[in-house]
This record gives sequence, structure tokens and C-alpha cells, in this order.
Amino acid sequence: MRRAGQVVAEMHEAIRAAIRPGVTTASLDAIGRAVLARRGATSNFLGYHGYPAVICASVNDEVVHGIPGDRILDDGDVISVDCGAIVQGWHGDAAFTVGVGSIDASTRRLIDLADASLEAGIATLMPEGRLGDYGAVVSGMVDAAGCASAEGFTGHGIGRAMHEAPAVPNEARAGTGPRLRVGNVLALEPMICAGSGEVMILDDGWTAVTVDGSRAVHVEHTVAVTEDGPEILTRP
Ligand code: MF3
Ligand code: CO
Repeated sequence: MRRAGQVVAEMHEAIRAAIRPGVTTASLDAIGRAVLARRGATSNFLGYHGYPAVICASVNDEVVHGIPGDRILDDGDVISVDCGAIVQGWHGDAAFTVGVGSIDASTRRLIDLADASLEAGIATLMPEGRLGDYGAVVSGMVDAAGCASAEGFTGHGIGRAMHEAPAVPNEARAGTGPRLRVGNVLALEPMICAGSGEVMILDDGWTAVTVDGSRAVHVEHTVAVTEDGPEILTRP
């Protein structure tokens, strides 16, 4: 899983370096495909329930699962890129969010909130801890900022499949939920809307957008519970 995680991290680095006004989201997908090919890895996104790409590219009011295509990124946009890889049967899955060109202060705050909530959430992944500690930390930070977690989406266990038990909600109460054990691996993924957390799916069957049109961001890491605490497998 470390190897799969490092391929995902490499996809992120290559895609992040290409993001600027004027590029299409399809060109970012092509970069992801090239990294997978170079590393002899396969995509866990491509073909998943018919999903047509190796990345999700979710722009502005798109929360998750935006399909890459001929959309051209504009100065001031915010884009979340989610992708995964399979190496020798083991899965990695992670997402990052960045501004395109120069972004306004409220978008900057939203991205910083997402990154900070993921980092604080990861720190709760201690052996013998409880899964709900993660959601309690994330929801506490999201609520304090006057934002909302996207309704109806969670993180997940990950291993021989991309999605394994348990679901990992971004809202929970501390001290509740299953106990964490050394060797558990979870994909933690805050999805944060600037306005209401209500989302709907577009006619393409995939793209989740905010109902109120507010901006939303998504970040994710695949994290292992070790004797020494959390190990982020998708960090380079
Ligand atoms: N990375 C997403 C998740 O965390 C999965 C994307 S599904 C796909 O659950 F079909 F878009 F690949
Ligand atoms: Co995931």
C-alpha cells in the first residue's frame, strides 16, 4: 500500500504542477494516465461503475466526482483533483485542492480549512482510538468556520479494494464508532462546502455540485494506523 500511495502522490505532484489558467481538465487526466503507465500501476477509478477517467476534477461548485473533459480552467477557479492507483493488487486514493491563478480570500480560507481539518483528523488515527474521533475533529473545525460538510459522502476503509468497510463520516462524536487497530488503513476525505452541505448529482450521473452554488473543496489521504500512530501513505 505504501507503493500504491507513492504512485498517487506522484500523480498529484505532476498534475499540481500543470494546473494554471488555460489548461483543460482532460489534460490533467492525461498526466495522471502517464504517471500510472510509467510506474506500471493501474487505475482504480477508470471503469469503476463505468467511470470514464483516472482522475476526478471538481471545479468551483463541484464537490466531488467531476469528470475531466474540455472545460478550460480560469483564473480564480478552485479545483479538487482526486485520483488513485493499484500496485500489485493494493489500492491508494487521495485528493488535493488548489486555486487556479489568483483566488479570492474566501476561497483561500476554504482550502486552508480543508487542509487543516484533514491534518487534524489524521492525527486522531491512534491504535485503540475510536473512529468517531476523526469525524468529531473535522466537524468541529468545519462548524467553527461556518462551513458545512457535503451531505451523503464519507471516507472509507481501503486495501485490496478501493472502498472497504468501515465508512468514515466527516461528522461524528468523539469516543464513538469502531476501535482502531494497528494495520487498519483508511481513506480520510473532508468535503467542505462554503455554504449549505446540500448536494445534487448532475445529469452525467457523477458530478456532485452544491445546491446553493457555493464553492466546495475536497482533500483526501490514505492513512495507515501503525504502532507509532498515523502513517500517511499518499504523502510524497
Ligand atoms: N476517490 C473517490 C473516493 O474517495 C472515488 C472516486 S469514484 C470514481 O471514494 F469513480 F470516480 F473513481
Ligand atoms: Co476515497
